[in-house]
Parts: sequence; structure tokens; C-alpha cells
Amino acid sequence: MEMRFKIFRYDPAVDSEPSYRTYTVSVQPQERILDCLNRIKWEQDGSLAFRMSCAHGVCGSDGMRINGVCALACQKLVRDYADSTEITLEPLPFFRVLKDLMVDMEDFLARVDAMRPYLVPDGPPPEKERLQSPEDHKKQEDVIRCILCACCTGACPVMQENPDYIGPAALVWAYRFLYDSRDGRFGERLEKLNEPNNVWPCENYFECTRVCPKGIPITKSINTMKREIKKHLPAGGEGK
Ligand code: FES
Repeated sequence: MEMRFKIFRYDPAVDSEPSYRTYTVSVQPQERILDCLNRIKWEQDGSLAFRMSCAHGVCGSDGMRINGVCALACQKLVRDYADSTEITLEPLPFFRVLKDLMVDMEDFLARVDAMRPYLVPDGPPPEKERLQSPEDHKKQEDVIRCILCACCTGACPVMQENPDYIGPAALVWAYRFLYDSRDGRFGERLEKLNEPNNVWPCENYFECTRVCPKGIPITKSINTMKREIKKHLPAGGEGK
């Protein structure tokens, strides 16, 4: 079958504004959107820019908007869009475009970094590794799957209205370490989460949860942290 791909094109170094170019590709229903992009690049237009690496939903580098929904191009198949005669590919919303489907991830990663996404244990290092029980590990099992693809952040309606909101991906990483039994900064982490642009701007749109390619219950995790703040901080939360 033939499928048309309408692709966002923009090179800020030479283009005054973005445009769309359409490519027709002979495809199989079981082919991945990423395979189609590769074929377009290799056979039709070598100037097309996009990121990819693992091609198996592990590295998180090919997050983009496919027919209006943020997703990994390597996890979506042509047959997922069987009702469409054309598949539109665009960069993740909210992100600055570097070229075509490639976006600048620096600010996104800085937000994750602001959540201290690493263990800060109390006391001197043990002789061997810091152990965690299977029960304690279970508390983190969902969020630990995050691959930093940024689909959640691109899909979040709050990010569009309030660019200072830290965003769902950063909050997933905050949750991951807040509930790590080996970490010693529970109180400090809660204080950080309580800052006005961290957990509180989330308005429960659930878009992040809907698009997460790893099935992480992001909104639920954010709500859990809000309740934790109300329980433990004297001011009772709400970013006060
Ligand atoms: S290319 Fe690695 S997640 Fe898609």
C-alpha cells in the first residue's frame, strides 16, 4: 500500500518559517513509522533531520507528534493509522526546533536535573552495595521505566500555558527518588516539590499518562506526591 507522510520541515539557519513537505512511500502495514522515516531519508530526501538510536523503544530519542499525538516513531506502526490516508509528523510541541523533527532537549534535561535524579543517602557508604528489598523496589517499579523521551512533556496542556511548570517527566524522576528506600532526603525532596511551579500546576489532564510509551501512571504519581506534601509539610502544600 502507499502512504503519504506530511512532514514538518524547518531549518532555522536558512528558513524564515516552517513548512510541510509530503512524501509518498510504499509501505507494509506492520512497518514502523521510524522505518518509513528512514526510507524517506535514504531514498527521497537526505536533508530530513530526526533522531533515532535503538529503534526498539529503549533510548527515547525519537519522540515526535504523529497525527497530533506525541509518541515514539519506533513504537507506532503504519497499521495504527490505517484509517488515515496521510500521516503527519511534527516535532514535540513546546520544544525549540533545532531542525525538522529534532528538538532541543537541554532545557528539558535541566528540569529533570533540578529534581536531583540520583540517590543522596545518609551516613557513610556501606562496605558493599546499598540493598533494597523487593517490596521497596515495587514502589518504584512503574516510574523506573522512564526513558526521557519527553512525550509526556510535549503533550502536557499546562506546559503550553505555563512554561515555568517543571513538567511531568521531571516529576516522574522526583517520584522515583522520593520513594527510594535508600535515599536520605525525603523532607528536602518534598520541600522542592512544593515550590510553586513543581507539583502544583498539574491540573489532572492525564495527557502525559495517555501518551507515555512506557505506561507510567504519571498523573497518579504527581497526585500521590501532592498528598504526601499535604501530609508532611506544616503549611499543607499548594505551593505555599
Ligand atoms: S529509537 Fe530508541 S526509543 Fe525509538
